[in-house]
Amino acid sequence: MTDQLTDFARTHTCGALRAGDVGADVVLLGWVHRVRDLGSLVFFDLRDRGGLTQVVIRDHDDLLASAKRLRSEFVVAVKGLVQRRSPEVVNPKLATGDIEVVARELVVLNEAKTPPFSVAEDTNVSEDLRLRYRYLDLRRPSVQANLGLRHRVALAIRNRLDARGFWEIETPILGKSTPEGARDYLVPSRVHPGEFYALPQSPQIFKQILMIAGTDRYFQIVRCFRDEDLRADRQPEFTQVDIEISFATMPLVFSIIEPLMQGIFKEIGREIQTPFRQMGYDEAMARYGSDKPDLRCGLDIQDLSTIFSASTFAVFRGAVEQGGVVRGFVVPGGARFSRRELDEIVEQAKQLGAGGLVWARRGAEGAIQSSALKAIGEEAVRAALEAASADADGLLIMSAGPAENTSRLLGQLRLTLARKQGLLKDGEFAFAWITGFPLLEWSDEDQRWFSMHHPFTAPVDEDVEHLDRDPSKLRAKAYDLVLNGSEIGGGSIRIHDSGLQSRIFSLLGIAPDEAKARFGFFLEALQYGTPPHGGIALGLDRIVALLAGESSIREVIAFPKTAQAVDLMSGAPSTVDEKQLRELHIGLRS
Ligand code: AMO
Repeated sequence: MTDQLTDFARTHTCGALRAGDVGADVVLLGWVHRVRDLGSLVFFDLRDRGGLTQVVIRDHDDLLASAKRLRSEFVVAVKGLVQRRSPEVVNPKLATGDIEVVARELVVLNEAKTPPFSVAEDTNVSEDLRLRYRYLDLRRPSVQANLGLRHRVALAIRNRLDARGFWEIETPILGKSTPEGARDYLVPSRVHPGEFYALPQSPQIFKQILMIAGTDRYFQIVRCFRDEDLRADRQPEFTQVDIEISFATMPLVFSIIEPLMQGIFKEIGREIQTPFRQMGYDEAMARYGSDKPDLRCGLDIQDLSTIFSASTFAVFRGAVEQGGVVRGFVVPGGARFSRRELDEIVEQAKQLGAGGLVWARRGAEGAIQSSALKAIGEEAVRAALEAASADADGLLIMSAGPAENTSRLLGQLRLTLARKQGLLKDGEFAFAWITGFPLLEWSDEDQRWFSMHHPFTAPVDEDVEHLDRDPSKLRAKAYDLVLNGSEIGGGSIRIHDSGLQSRIFSLLGIAPDEAKARFGFFLEALQYGTPPHGGIALGLDRIVALLAGESSIREVIAFPKTAQAVDLMSGAPSTVDEKQLRELHIGLRS
């Protein structure tokens, strides 16, 4: 039996043919995208990864009969002649829109059930249905484009890092728990009853050991696993571009990552400016209420405390007297908001937990207006508008309370209002390095210190003296890379001294015995000639989502999980049979 495909060797993809190919004999293979049956004439769009080509069938009874059987998603082979479309049916939206292929032969290679949603139309299909039939969803040109983009970005990263002397080295998936702050996914060992591997939350310890091992510059495009609450920008398994560099300083790391990001953005034809802006953590928290500020818009939060320290308005004065602040920001164009819009803003602030929110603006002919005009007094409101540089068009939004809470709340409102005013534009990219993080965070609930990044991050040299006396004063040699309000990377210069590493473990409440059991191998390795080193991990899913203009990373992952960590297509996770459990020495609690 001959293989049907031997007669149909593909000559072009469905996105390749142009006016210059008119007159060529071609073979196209793909899926039927859309059919239009006009009786003695049948048109269909043939689709493959490369795009769409219109196929015409006419004047031929056998062919017409086959064409009339065609349904969406049938797999077909077409042999035919490329001809120019008549001017009135040229489709400028389609790359192949100048031509069509007049079929001479048509073979149905496979039929398809009627799909539960149309691949051809961008209809509003629920995400659950899309994920359940992901193989159909992935056929949609927009989702395929995302996979293609992701491939090209990964390739650009590999090429660029190779050119800078990095080696891609694989690290184990079955490993030992690494403390990145989330829960581990555990894998029971069959041959070691009662023992478990942990899937890596990141290759942190291994990449540091690779520096000790003299590999100098490592990278890996690597899957990481974290059992944490999921959101649009979080998946239980996600991909990092993991990087480690021997003899690294912060400027050296930046000088490697910035050109890398330039290379990545070239994949969508964008030139980005370097060096990136650098901003201290304290400044980011005060001015944007976030350690991942969206810097595409202004609306900077400003401190207005001095204006209200002796105010008649008890709420604001009281906040300042109690060591808190009055802060605010100006919404461009906000002076034109209606009463209803202003009420909505106040309501939203309440929902975010604000004790109160005050707005102020200049009304018609410069008359001062404010939601607390009487209580604050016209002069003080005018002074606040001036201090905040609010022009006639601007609306000043103010709130008072403890510094961090106030900026955090205003930071959230800032984003909502910037979005409302159309100031967060797609296709605009604002990068920043955030530095100067505290090394540790105190948890009232657990009554102990936690690492803000992870316990391998080095403290700033001159802060080490605070280690025993006041750990809150320790700043970290850590940096996050932020793009449009999203944390797309995080890293640090590491501790390379085993004594200091042990002291940090004990500060984190990890007793020497526990440290030895969990990280003994690493503490030992540190003693065998560890070079100073540092690195970073970039979130590949988040970067590709931003490049593709997608609001969820699920759109750039071939087989993502839902917010409940379920793979709706395969049905993972699932129960396993009793025999498997017995082999793994596992009994389920009822
Ligand atoms: P960190 O925990 O900051 O650092 O992770 C690095 C980057 O990975 C991305 N990321 C995620 N993306 C999708 N889903 C998730 N659940 C998820 N969690 C993190 C983010 C983040 O900035 N070992 C350190 C790196 C280092 O110090 O070199 C680490 O993993 O974009």
